[in-house]
Amino acid sequence: MKVKVHPLPEKVVGKVCVLVDALRATCTISAALSFGATGIIPVGSVEEAKKLKGDGAVLAGERKGKKIKGFDLGNSPFDMEQVSGKEVILTTSNGTRAVKMLDCEEIVAASFPNLLAVLDFLKGFDEVDVVCSGDDGKVSLEDFLLAGKIAMLDRDPKDVTRIASIYASSVTSVNEEILKSSHALELIELGFRRDVEFCSNVGTISEIPVLRSGVFRRLRL
Ligand code: MLT
Repeated sequence: MKVKVHPLPEKVVGKVCVLVDALRATCTISAALSFGATGIIPVGSVEEAKKLKGDGAVLAGERKGKKIKGFDLGNSPFDMEQVSGKEVILTTSNGTRAVKMLDCEEIVAASFPNLLAVLDFLKGFDEVDVVCSGDDGKVSLEDFLLAGKIAMLDRDPKDVTRIASIYASSVTSVNEEILKSSHALELIELGFRRDVEFCSNVGTISEIPVLRSGVFRRLRL
């Protein structure tokens, strides 16, 4: 399989794109589905999110890590414990904006909790683009690490994909490594240590969110 890692969001046209925002957007999207949300609509701006809110939908999101004023929920995976049977409109600083740059037949959201399920799903494809959301135009350690874990599916990775793969294969404890990222430290400072731990645990979620007509829904295998 050929894997191409994009360390920062960019326009990608492809067959399968994997969106990565390990802390926390893609983790929260996976968690929302595992807690029973019917779908998650990723939107770029607060205004657009407010406009979309209809009956029964829940407004969720963050700016600078904190819940947006007037929204029902923040961007914590634990906030998603309340969304069973509901549609979630989600806007985040980087992750839900990055998804807008992808023009792919399949777009899936990957996080450490659902990494094993995503790796299993990807085995059916020849070429995969993995797109990191980053942090305001800067490469994020946690996204690059997760992208590298996916890049390890490629036996002969090239260039930045190779760097990501070699880095990821050298990391034995994802939990400890993520604590070395500035975003993890910022979230801990804001009181979200539990989120960082949840989003660093590999293999705790089996849902694979796939984007269908602008909504992340549970992949039915
Ligand atoms: C983002 O999209 O930048 C993140 O998910 C920020 C966060 O809530 O930690």
